[in-house]
Amino acid sequence: MDVTKACESRFSCRKYKADDVGNGLIEQCIECARIAPSALNKQPWKFYVTRGELKARIAKETQLFGANGFTDEAPVLVVVTVRPKIADKLADKIKHQDFSSIDLGIAVQSFCLKATELGLGTCIIGWVQAKNVDKILGTAIGERTRLIISVGYPACEQPPRRRKAVEEIATYLS
Ligand SMILES: Cc1cc2nc3c(=O)[nH]c(=O)nc-3n(C[C@H](O)[C@H](O)[C@H](O)COP(=O)(O)O)c2cc1C
Repeated sequence: MDVTKACESRFSCRKYKADDVGNGLIEQCIECARIAPSALNKQPWKFYVTRGELKARIAKETQLFGANGFTDEAPVLVVVTVRPKIADKLADKIKHQDFSSIDLGIAVQSFCLKATELGLGTCIIGWVQAKNVDKILGTAIGERTRLIISVGYPACEQPPRRRKAVEEIATYLS
């Protein structure tokens, strides 16, 4: 699958078949995330692949106010954490940027595009009670849950895409 096709075919999948996704496939997605670019090549991310009982507990932490019920059905939840160093936080302040979040987003999209190529459905989940997930995982000091990716075989079709027109988002300056 070429890059354009992967970008076009990826969608937020919120209905999954019960079939598990083997670690061999998850590893291929993590490999694409692993080689993603990051500010100063810091690679501030970690990926925790969860299934079963642990996954069920994490799913509950995405469901505040009735959201994200589909995480109960997704066979795999991948928790993505960042652990920026103090020097990196200082750089963020000076530059008025949040580089680790930018890094994380790029890596997560690489993961999702590879999953698409492999015929898997994904949904990036930001509505997460992150501190609770940190506790469940026992993350290191300074390491924070930022996003969760649900992964599974899609049990739904890709819906029509709603996007702004290119004229609204792109300006060509000469
Ligand atoms: C940072 C981020 C957080 C998101 N959080 C959630 C979420 O908590 N629950 C959910 O169902 N979708 C979530 N989404 C998916 C978006 O709703 C989705 O990408 C958007 O509506 C466009 O649809 P598409 O992914 O199918 O193209 C999130 C996406 C991003 C990038």
